Amino acid sequence: MANRRPSVLDSPVPGTLGNRRPSVLDSPGSRRQSVISSRRPSIDPSRLVPMDKTSALSGTDHFNVLFVGAGNIMFGSDEGPWNHSFRFEHKLGPRLKVVALIDPAIDRATSVLQKKCETFVRSAYENTRVFRTLEDFVKNMSRKDTPRAVIVGSPPMFRGTLQTGRDIELQILRYFPGVAMFIEKPAATGPSSEIEEAFQIAKHISDSGTICSVGYMLRYLKAVQMMKQIIHENNLTVMATVARYACAYEAIAKPDWWDKSKSAGPVIEQGTHFCDLSRYFGGDVDMTTVSAHSLEWDENAGHLSKMVVDESAIPAENRIPRVTAATWKYESGAVGSFTHLVALQGHDYSCELEVYADGYQLKLVNPYVQPVLYIRRPGNDHEETHRFPDDDPFFSEISVLIDNIEDIEEDPETSTILSSFEDACKTYQLTWAIREATERNRKYKKDNTIPE
Ligand SMILES: NC(=O)c1ccc[n+]([C@@H]2O[C@H](COP(=O)([O-])OP(=O)(O)OC[C@H]3O[C@@H](n4cnc5c(N)ncnc54)[C@H](O)[C@@H]3O)[C@@H](O)[C@H]2O)c1
Repeated sequence: MANRRPSVLDSPVPGTLGNRRPSVLDSPGSRRQSVISSRRPSIDPSRLVPMDKTSALSGTDHFNVLFVGAGNIMFGSDEGPWNHSFRFEHKLGPRLKVVALIDPAIDRATSVLQKKCETFVRSAYENTRVFRTLEDFVKNMSRKDTPRAVIVGSPPMFRGTLQTGRDIELQILRYFPGVAMFIEKPAATGPSSEIEEAFQIAKHISDSGTICSVGYMLRYLKAVQMMKQIIHENNLTVMATVARYACAYEAIAKPDWWDKSKSAGPVIEQGTHFCDLSRYFGGDVDMTTVSAHSLEWDENAGHLSKMVVDESAIPAENRIPRVTAATWKYESGAVGSFTHLVALQGHDYSCELEVYADGYQLKLVNPYVQPVLYIRRPGNDHEETHRFPDDDPFFSEISVLIDNIEDIEEDPETSTILSSFEDACKTYQLTWAIREATERNRKYKKDNTIPE
């Protein structure tokens, strides 16, 4: 190991808590020190076990959880496999008590709870109270309702800033100091001028030693952890990441998704998963090197025949690009490239990530549906194929979070949280840099086109 080059595996994910987690018994000062750590930000793939092959957390005391947002990510939909409440039920079993559900859409919140109460998980939800805001809950809660984890699945336009009403992370830190949080991706979706505010929140979170996990669940795929393991065990230095994310646009029926003023565009809202995964392998990006081009809705090749939303209702300047292609340099010198496409019909997405190192190609295919990892090793043209049936990264990310909260005994075997708020801010920054690079190039072309 003496002469090996440093790899991204050498440092913990900034802002996660290295090789021990804080307990509510710690003082803020001692927690801060725990950030300094030697634990690798990866997990032995054999420790990632699907829900049906694991038993609920042991113990008998109630585990109070507070949910913010009663939408698809929390309670599921036909659009995909996400459904956090379902994973919490399996991880915590009868210990789960959802103390409150915060959502300004009271009817939606009441209705999802009603459905839960009609099933065998009733005991987790029969005393759940619904509030429009976190503040309303705090005013009305009793001490026994204090949550051990706050799970935030509200839209990103309502979070990730220091501004009143869009500062849920700071509210949680203020009302529930020391309580763990889980925040969905992306960190925010305000204007790029607000990115700095997201980084300030990251600092508040890490300074307070709060356990915080961000919903970049693809990091928890067994295939991804096997890629990490190969890189680590062979002391590899990543040379390049090549990512492609082609969504099935016919299946996307949310008008806001097609409106840049609402969702910030498909790279920031959706492609963010692959920008994040690229960074997970390539490390920090030199933001000054990001360059990108887009195919826009008003170009001939950008015409889509099977959109299910009425795009004419969206102001022209807010319509989203059909293709975004970006390249950048990592601070390590490696090169990253990413193409996002709004081009496919049907239901399933087509997504691939290739990671290259001397003699190695690690190719992750179809991570959302049925992950397959193709590996080419040094001195060989043969491609190994590894399949991962029943892998559930949504469960793994929740499972790791809960293990970290429960782990006040500092069990060195507990898996690490793989995505910190600060790290998620860096992904957010990269996706904004890509969007702004496309807009600069588009403006340049417009300004330099001589009218016929
Ligand atoms: N990791 C993934 O694969 C994945 C998948 C789906 C969604 N997500 C993320 O989850 C988040 C939510 O997406 P969704 O699909 O559930 O959206 P959704 O529109 O289905 O639900 C959002 C809910 O939040 C509520 N809400 C609005 N403002 C709120 C506020 N200030 N406080 C609390 N609740 C508020 C809305 O009334 C709605 O019920 C987004 O950040 C999205 O990117 C991630």
